[in-house]
Amino acid sequence: MIDFTDHFVLSVYGIANPIAVQRLDPIGLDNSLKQLHTLTTEKRVHEIADLLKRLLPLPSTYALYSQEECLAAMRDVGIFLGTLKKLGSEPVQLVPELIPLLCELGTRTNLPPRDTLLHYTFWNPNGERMRTYTGTSDERALVESVKMAYSDLLVAIIMLDRLYDKAFEGKEFESICQVIRDNIESMVNGIVHAKRLVSPAYFANELRFYYEPILVDKTEPYIGPGAVEMPMFLFDHILWNCDLKDADYEKFKEGYLPFNFQFIRDMYWKYKTKQSVWSIVIENLETHPSEETVKAAEAALGFSYILKSFRMPHKKLADQSYSHKEEFNKQTGSGGYSVDILQRIMELQNDKIHSLHESIHKVKGP
Ligand code: HEM
Repeated sequence: MIDFTDHFVLSVYGIANPIAVQRLDPIGLDNSLKQLHTLTTEKRVHEIADLLKRLLPLPSTYALYSQEECLAAMRDVGIFLGTLKKLGSEPVQLVPELIPLLCELGTRTNLPPRDTLLHYTFWNPNGERMRTYTGTSDERALVESVKMAYSDLLVAIIMLDRLYDKAFEGKEFESICQVIRDNIESMVNGIVHAKRLVSPAYFANELRFYYEPILVDKTEPYIGPGAVEMPMFLFDHILWNCDLKDADYEKFKEGYLPFNFQFIRDMYWKYKTKQSVWSIVIENLETHPSEETVKAAEAALGFSYILKSFRMPHKKLADQSYSHKEEFNKQTGSGGYSVDILQRIMELQNDKIHSLHESIHKVKGP
């Protein structure tokens, strides 16, 4: 199995060790996080900027940072970026020294010149040292809900990629499908966790504002570290939609590529011109209707229940949160889309599930 604490596995996929990054405190935020939360509650913008200036490393220091230190520094500076933006300031205007630092950290880690969801969750320590904007239990639960799903989602993607190269029937195909289902199930657990512990009203009136886009080096802003950046879109891409021609949905998926690992970006383009797993399964049922192809199709259809169990409650959570939008006048998610995109993705997904069901029934009979 794939273990994201194993150095070899991490190096194969070009992923910095999450445990090593989580341990680091390159700018000394451990001792200043509580103070930052207090200043944030009291909306003392200039004192927050002064604190950030005191913590910012000198160019001669960050020039010597390791890869892990670059990621941990970006994670910790990122908390200030979201906080200053929430309090109404453009961070780089208030603290121009940020620009060269963010650009260098971004370039050296092959990620954008600001923090991403990876910094905020995957590389964020647990417990006392967890980096948050507010320190509240709701925010901690939101970070945990993504953390509990992230590594398993990566495993599910890698296994789906491996599945693609196997024969689309037989015991091996079915057992890999089972491994993928076990891993993708963590997305459901993440939503259950968020539904239990994150108040939609608190998200709408407080948390959502920390994930706003910021300007750095160009006129185009960079989006904040929201869960929409998760490479769930790549899982869907390989499983059921890389061959779906829908310009808006493609724009949606491609918009989040820069905020993901290089191997996620490469895999996205690799599948862009291929047939999706479910399309191949449907074609096999049509060209070779047999007990084996039905069994394989049923194994592949097994993902549909999990996708629905993630998307339906997630949409409900988003609807509940955005029903508070009049109070805070924020109509879109951190990725720049309204909840309508969630409905659209569910419709596209359900159409494909329906086609797969139909093809199985045609072979099996009523
Ligand atoms: C209060 C909690 C949450 C709210 C209000 C919320 C809201 C939203 C909204 C409005 C979008 C649309 C795109 C955009 O952001 O611009 C979105 C997308 C998305 N969110 Fe969430 N979300 C929440 C929690 C989570 C959690 C905990 C996860 C994962 C564990 C998650 C995973 C995703 C994914 C993967 C997408 C992309 C669309 C899809 O694949 O269906 N969200 N979310």
